[in-house]
Amino acid sequence: MKFFLDTANLDQIREANELGILDGVTTNPSLMAKEGIKGNANVKKHYKTICEIVNGDISAEVISTDFDGMIKEGVELSKIHKNIVVKIPMIKDGVKAMSYLNKKRIRTNCTLVFSAGQAILAAKAGATYVSPFIGRLDDIGFDGIELISQIAGIYAVQGFKTQILAASIRNPLHIIKSAEAGANVVTCPLSSIMGLLNHPLTDIGLAKFMEDHKKVNSK
Ligand code: G3P
Repeated sequence: MKFFLDTANLDQIREANELGILDGVTTNPSLMAKEGIKGNANVKKHYKTICEIVNGDISAEVISTDFDGMIKEGVELSKIHKNIVVKIPMIKDGVKAMSYLNKKRIRTNCTLVFSAGQAILAAKAGATYVSPFIGRLDDIGFDGIELISQIAGIYAVQGFKTQILAASIRNPLHIIKSAEAGANVVTCPLSSIMGLLNHPLTDIGLAKFMEDHKKVNSK
């Protein structure tokens, strides 16, 4: 399973990259705004910087909602760097745009997916990745992880090649459950990845080893 970071924050991207476990980055207009990036030129520059830090797929989202706008933006974004994957929303024109970009060999990540039906459409349109938002489903009382399992089952039975990218991850358990459910990728905040590290028995065990090691050299 690949690990992507769901942020546009360069410090966090560098920190995760230094762990040696980072396979890519996803961003969205909200995450760009959070970093105070303003203007299309600066947005593109920011994507280029991320591509230079991380050797992996970097999702860059279109902000148009009509077919012509999405393909124009998609083509422009894809020219920033070979690792750019164009993020397209799951709407009617988005499906059309993903089919078009797929034929032009431009890779896409279908975002804002909340149902198995939408995931089937994304696969049919040739999306490279499909992004079910598990945290936002949990927020409204649906089981986000159950959706990952359902999509994984359908894709396996049908032989769809689209990779399942579990998005809107909120905690370490979401990562573990996504792995169990058959996600190909998880995109997470850095805090959720770091949360996987923690176990009190590791800390207690290490403290004991360090303490006992002192006895090895003492007289
Ligand atoms: O990048 C899309 C997704 O991961 C958003 O997450 O936490 O805003 O629901 P969240």
